[in-house]
Amino acid sequence: MYGISAIALEKTYGSFRAVDSLTFNVKSGDIFGLIGPNGAGKTTTMRMLCGTLSPTAGKTIVGGFDIAKESIKIKTIIGFLPESTGFYNWMNGEEYLYYFARLYNIKEPIARKNIRDLLDRVGLAAKAFAPIAYYSRGMKQRLALARAMINDPKILFLDEPTLGMDPRGQQEIQKMLLDLNHEKGVTIFLSSHALTDVSTFCNQIGILNRGRLIAHGSLNDLRKLVNGSTRILVRILNTQEAISKLSRSPFNNTIDKVTEESVDFIISDDNIEFNQLVDWIRKENFKLTELRQIKMNLDEIFLRLTNPTYDKHSTPVTIKKSPSPQVGQTPSK
Ligand SMILES: Nc1ncnc2c1ncn2[C@@H]1O[C@H](COP(=O)(O)OP(=O)(O)OP(=O)(O)O)[C@@H](O)[C@H]1O
Ligand SMILES: [Mg+2]
Repeated sequence: MYGISAIALEKTYGSFRAVDSLTFNVKSGDIFGLIGPNGAGKTTTMRMLCGTLSPTAGKTIVGGFDIAKESIKIKTIIGFLPESTGFYNWMNGEEYLYYFARLYNIKEPIARKNIRDLLDRVGLAAKAFAPIAYYSRGMKQRLALARAMINDPKILFLDEPTLGMDPRGQQEIQKMLLDLNHEKGVTIFLSSHALTDVSTFCNQIGILNRGRLIAHGSLNDLRKLVNGSTRILVRILNTQEAISKLSRSPFNNTIDKVTEESVDFIISDDNIEFNQLVDWIRKENFKLTELRQIKMNLDEIFLRLTNPTYDKHSTPVTIKKSPSPQVGQTPSK
């Protein structure tokens, strides 16, 4: 059963299409990262999936419920961290969470215990009784995250969860979310501009551009989509004849960087035999200092796929189906 499905989802504002024919599935237990340039439609999509914004057309199914028909049921199984959260500044963190726990009809002793656990999980235990007005931006974000988890949700929607957090805070929150995913099988759907984090944290990634899903799959699927062929970086000591020898190389190579000490060149050749390469390096008497494979990172993939000139030649939406990880398994990198 799919955790989250969008079927031909659309949102228009007048004649402007903010979200356009969006169709995708996120499996139960996945950690899905939605990325895209500013204004691509990520927040709009997320709000339609959570039922806080009505689509112009199309359908969303979350945790097996059709959101148009059963929005109340959906609200009991999801948690949502919106792009911006309103706070009651006169309350303290504990009171604020208690207020929301009561909205979910959670009984007092259970609510108090859950709130203590949650404040601890998001690293706010020491500030539990300080007025929210005095919270820093990162602390407010942590409180908003705790609020999104108050009903022990099966599916978490997080719109830029680590925005405004310091590096340690970002790591702590990621660790907490990974634990939730591993221990309780919580499905996580997040949007973020922190692409390095998305590439290590999410096992499925969707790229939204001008309201359309232009790619969807694992990081490796996305690499294949942009023909991110294997590249090898070779660093050799810079000698008088190094550059001229390189120009006669039997491989498809490009010089990347030349310093007084060294020359870096990149070999882009899918069928390269490492032994052949090493034989040639020996034959030419190069002094090898580094040899490593370079895999295209998510930033490069993102820039390539969302580049307007690339877009003209790109194929339509590609949905790759990759197996969902089992609960307790680290998402593939
Ligand atoms: N109420 C509205 N009326 C008109 N246009 C809107 C409205 N809400 C959003 N839009 C437009 O829809 C598009 C998508 O906005 P959205 O907030 O979903 O982008 P986003 O991908 O979340 O961007 P960001 O990375 O900046 O958060 C934008 O062009 C935005 O201006
Ligand atoms: Mg947004």
